Amino acid sequence: MRAAAPVFQDDQSGSWHVFRYDDVQRVLSEHATFSSRMGGENPSGTGQLFAASLITTDPPRHRQLRSLVTQAFTPKSVDALAPRIAALTGELLDAMTTGGGSADLIRELAYPLPVIVISELMGIPAEDRERFKHWSAVVVSQTRTAPASERQDSTTSEMVEYFLALIDQRRSRPGNDLISSLLAAEIEGHKLTVPELLGFCSLLLVAGNETTTNLIGNAVLCLAESPGTHARLLDEPALLPQTLEEVLRFRSPVQSMYRVAAAETVLGGQRIPSGAPIVAWIGSANRDEQQFERAAEFDVDRNPNRHLAFGHGIHFCLGAPLARLEARIALESLLTRFPGLSVTPDAQLERMESSIVYGLKSLPV
Ligand code: HEM
Repeated sequence: MRAAAPVFQDDQSGSWHVFRYDDVQRVLSEHATFSSRMGGENPSGTGQLFAASLITTDPPRHRQLRSLVTQAFTPKSVDALAPRIAALTGELLDAMTTGGGSADLIRELAYPLPVIVISELMGIPAEDRERFKHWSAVVVSQTRTAPASERQDSTTSEMVEYFLALIDQRRSRPGNDLISSLLAAEIEGHKLTVPELLGFCSLLLVAGNETTTNLIGNAVLCLAESPGTHARLLDEPALLPQTLEEVLRFRSPVQSMYRVAAAETVLGGQRIPSGAPIVAWIGSANRDEQQFERAAEFDVDRNPNRHLAFGHGIHFCLGAPLARLEARIALESLLTRFPGLSVTPDAQLERMESSIVYGLKSLPV
């Protein structure tokens, strides 16, 4: 598509699909032309849930909302979580060792770790974590191009009810968690509205879990396919951060992001009308030969590596420092405990069914 139809309209849905690095970067960052407003004026289903959230607002509201949470996610605040993340990883790996030598890496490490971390940050009680992960998986499986199914609608209502009860509880008994700080926060003398609070909770739940799970799973898969890199990492653990950057480029956990044309514009020689839905294919941009030499090769020595896996511009992933830290600790701990870690031969590796997130359903190791 990058060569043959870099900006392409799907006749059925009417959406414009964008594949080249330069065009994807433009769509992600030129917010005046490519709006993040979701679902138009009357969003439905999951759209409703995120309608008031950071990821679906444009400036100036976006800047105000983002300023409320940036503090919790700066590299410095996130680094303070490292000992807790390391302890949690250690506990999950202890449980994995009791499996008699084989395990599903997704189910036993990559899946629970980010859920526990984000639920602790948000002050979600431990007994509710499983429901949390389930909601996140169902909501992510819905793409904006497809109408919400009944299952997705009922999951969304269940999740909304849960968050409303939690918000009420924190209003009367504030704690030392993100929801309590959002309740206390004010923008120009105004508190956040209930839909805005719900938008924040849902966004953190969805954005932070499935994505980081897939980064960890995809990293283990990349190492299995590149034994040379695996061996180098055992000798040179300092190589891990750049290895993870290459995993983010090569197997991007978020493959696509959506925008709406705020005005008529020309992109890749195509005239896109105002109001048209646009899909920016991050996964394709990250394999663009015009930007990356030997783009189809996994090469941890790539420098610079200007991948777009966390987006670009004002919506650049808020959780990037946290995702990088969790993945680094998970991989470091795995390689220290199990230097000979390998994917089970002949395992049937199945991808998740989603056009947005990219990762495996399970990874037997
Ligand atoms: C935004 C990817 C982990 C929270 C984004 C965007 C991407 C992305 C591509 C840009 C969206 C856009 O331009 O519309 C990823 C990947 C992750 C990850 C690949 C893991 C490997 C996390 C985590 C959190 C998080 C751990 C939070 C705990 C957010 C939020 C936004 C966002 C709140 C919206 C920012 C804004 O609109 O200003 N992420 N993310 N993400 N991400 Fe992540």
